[in-house]
Amino acid sequence: MANAVIRRASMGDLDALLRLYVQLSAGNAATIRERAETGLRDILASSNMTLLVAETDHLVGTVTLVIVPNLTHNAQPWAQVENMVTDESVRGAGVGRLLIEECLRLAREAGCYKVQLQSGNQRSTAENDAHGFYRHLGFEASSAGFRYYFQ
Ligand SMILES: CC(C)(COP(=O)(O)OP(=O)(O)OC[C@H]1O[C@@H](n2cnc3c(N)ncnc32)[C@H](O)[C@@H]1OP(=O)(O)O)[C@@H](O)C(=O)NCCC(=O)NCCS
Repeated sequence: MANAVIRRASMGDLDALLRLYVQLSAGNAATIRERAETGLRDILASSNMTLLVAETDHLVGTVTLVIVPNLTHNAQPWAQVENMVTDESVRGAGVGRLLIEECLRLAREAGCYKVQLQSGNQRSTAENDAHGFYRHLGFEASSAGFRYYFQ
């Protein structure tokens, strides 16, 4: 079992976070330092967002949880999981589970009725089967995901 500590990110984690995001999506990692700093500051200031990191002697994983206020389902909020990645050196060691379990705990504590996420079709391969990971942790692929990208 992973011995990583799960905690909320701080501004000092920015460089390590950017290194992890390269492993999530090399082409989409933030490259302009100032923009990344503003982004992290905005996330940390948002009461509806939690940016978690997993730490050993350095950062080995991260995930972002967004709590969304809601007017259906008896006005219970729901939660979105985004930007989930663990360092290649620790995959399979339980760090991803620790991060998702903390998301579920926080979402339950916030009164959410569901936690959802999108995971691209390309993330279900023999080398990296994120879909199998989510299924294993209790998520169901029960809806179709639609995205509209602004270029
Ligand atoms: C997907 C990813 C986050 C998983 O993280 P991880 O740290 O390797 O996962 P863990 O070691 O904590 O695995 C947790 C459990 O899921 C299981 N699991 C992992 N992948 C699985 C799969 N494809 N099928 C079934 N079970 C799987 C593990 O065996 C483990 O089981 P256990 O806790 O019951 O023993 C990681 O591989 C990663 O960062 N991939 C690249 C980025 C990515 O694709 N992110 C997802 C974006 S949507």
